[in-house]
Amino acid sequence: MERLDKFISDRTGMSRKDVKLLMKRGEVKVNGKTEHDPGLRINPEQDMVNVSERNLVYRKNTYVMLNKPDGYVCSTRDGRSETVLSLVPDELRVKNMFPAGRLDKDSKGFVFLTDDGGLAHRILSPKKHLTKCYLVRLENEYSEEYESVFESGMTIDGDEKCLPAKVCGISHDSHFALVGLDEGKFHQVKRMFEAVGNKVVSLFRVQIGGLVIDENLAPGECLEMLDNEIEKMLSDFDFSDARNSVEKSFCSYLINNKL
Ligand code: URA
Repeated sequence: MERLDKFISDRTGMSRKDVKLLMKRGEVKVNGKTEHDPGLRINPEQDMVNVSERNLVYRKNTYVMLNKPDGYVCSTRDGRSETVLSLVPDELRVKNMFPAGRLDKDSKGFVFLTDDGGLAHRILSPKKHLTKCYLVRLENEYSEEYESVFESGMTIDGDEKCLPAKVCGISHDSHFALVGLDEGKFHQVKRMFEAVGNKVVSLFRVQIGGLVIDENLAPGECLEMLDNEIEKMLSDFDFSDARNSVEKSFCSYLINNKL
């Protein structure tokens, strides 16, 4: 059982204060009947909640966006280092939650955690072509020559063939690059830049599918993702849009955070 105002606020992102106002205006129904008590206990699995003519669907699973700081391992257990799960607050940490995709211990940025194996598969499977974007700081200057090499489906470490990938420079700083990959081989971005004679100094994942990490999320912080954010994550996007959003909002954030 759960409080009605909390259920609505969790599903919609509205503050509890706004939920109360809506209830006062008679815009909330439970099982077809207008409800005015924000503290009413409901069973989210059975009761039908309708807000402003929209039915709110009960969610069986939990979806979390984390801004991973340096030093945490993307796994559920590790004998030596702290895992990203230790950063998930108690109210969001559910049984069988795991990070869908790995960032290296020294990498930062968007990590998606869930207990929904089906959705994780859609995000991780290279066949689904869900691009993840990484902003990297390079040891040597970026070269436009990388673009055709990455696009061609390059080979790393002698025999490992990569899927075609996207890369571009960032106008703020000639040592920055943005990379878009549809797969996640071990240390892939670092190895791709090594193969073209450069070196990744630091790496921040900015985007999974069509969803950019919330720029107000401080390193180490989590938020529960809303339905529209999940939809956005699963949607297609244009790599040049990703570049524009990084140029517009992320560079100063990342430079301030010493990416
Ligand atoms: N590629 C890397 O090399 N490291 C990461 O953490 C993610 C992608």
